[in-house]
Amino acid sequence: MSISDTTANTTAANTAANLGPYTVNRIGYGAMQLAGPGVFGPPADPDNAKAVLRHAVAAGVDHIDTAQIYGPDVVNDLIRDALHPYPEGLRLATKVGGARDAQGGWLPDGEPASLKAQVEENLRSLRVERLDLVNLRRFERDFPGAPQYDLADQLGALTALRDEGKIDMIGISNAHLDTVRAAIDLAGVVCVQNAYSVLDRTDDAIVDLCREHGIAFVPFFPLGSAFIAGGGPKHLAADEHVSAVAAKHGITASQVALAWLLARYERMLLIPGTASIAHLDENLAVGGVALDAEDLARLDKVAPLRHGS
Ligand SMILES: NC(=O)c1ccc[n+]([C@@H]2O[C@H](COP(=O)([O-])OP(=O)(O)OC[C@H]3O[C@@H](n4cnc5c(N)ncnc54)[C@H](OP(=O)(O)O)[C@@H]3O)[C@@H](O)[C@H]2O)c1
Repeated sequence: MSISDTTANTTAANTAANLGPYTVNRIGYGAMQLAGPGVFGPPADPDNAKAVLRHAVAAGVDHIDTAQIYGPDVVNDLIRDALHPYPEGLRLATKVGGARDAQGGWLPDGEPASLKAQVEENLRSLRVERLDLVNLRRFERDFPGAPQYDLADQLGALTALRDEGKIDMIGISNAHLDTVRAAIDLAGVVCVQNAYSVLDRTDDAIVDLCREHGIAFVPFFPLGSAFIAGGGPKHLAADEHVSAVAAKHGITASQVALAWLLARYERMLLIPGTASIAHLDENLAVGGVALDAEDLARLDKVAPLRHGS
C-alpha cells in the first residue's frame, strides 16, 4: 500500500495536537542537524539550511525545535535569517541548561542565574520578545553520579521569567520519571522532550505519565539519532520487523518509525531532524500513514538500540 493509498485511513489525530494551550501540527521539525558536524560551527551550505527551514514552514510545519547552543548561535541565526519575521502561529521551542566547550563538548550549565542568561541569549538570537517554549534540559541522565542542580530552583528561575512575559511555556528535557512528575507539579510543564523511538522505549512510563496529565511528549532521536554509529535510519532499515512493515505499506523504514510514534500517543509531537529537503518531505508524508494492530504488534519485537543520552 502506498502513502496515498493510506491517506484515507488518516485520522484527525495524525494531523494536529495540543502544545500547551495551542494546537500544532504533529509533524514538526528539529533544527539541530542544520549546524556543522557535531552540531558545532556553521554548515557547509548555509543556503541549503535556510531552504530546508523555509520549505518546512511552507509545507505546514508550525513547531520547530532549536537551541542557542546548537552551533552555538548557528542554528538560531539560520532560523532568524530564514524565517524572521516569523509567521503567525509558528512555535519555536528552545532549551536551556547546557553549554558547549571549545571543542563542541556538551556541558551542564544549569544554575538559575545561568538559565536566565541563556533565555536572554535565545531571545537575542531568535530576535523575539518572548520565547514560545523553553525546555529545561537536565543532565541527570548524562552524568548520573554527579551532583545535580536543584529542580525547584531551576524551575523557579524559569517560572519567574514566564511571569515577566519572557517565556510563554515551559517544558522538561532529559529527565527521569520522578523529575517529570515534580516538574508538572512545580511549573505546569506542557511537554517532555526525552529520547524515545521504536528503537528505544526506555521512557514508556514517561509517555504514559504524559497521557495521564494530557501533556505533549516530544521525542528527540525519533529516528534513532545521527550520533549512533552508522546513523539511526540505517539501524531502522536493517531491522527485519521495521522492514516488513515498511514493505507492507510501501513506505520507508524511517517513515515506519515516525508512524509508530504517532500511533503510540495522540499528543506525541514529532521533531525529526534533517538537513535534506527530500528527507523532510518524506517525514512530513507520515501524517498520511496509519499503522494497524498487526503492524504495532510486529513493531513491539524491534530490537532495542539505546543511545547514551
Ligand atoms: N533535548 C535534547 O537534549 C535533544 C537532544 C538531541 C536532539 N534534540 C532535538 O531533537 C531533534 C531530533 O533529533 P535528531 O535530529 O538528533 O535525531 P533523529 O531525528 O532521530 O535523526 C536525525 C538523523 O536522521 C536522518 N534522517 C532524517 N530524516 C530521514 C529520512 N527520512 N530518511 C533517512 N534519514 C533521515 C538525518 O540525516 P539527514 O540530515 O541526511 O536527513 C540525521 O542523520 C533534533 O533536531 C533536536 O532539535 C534535542
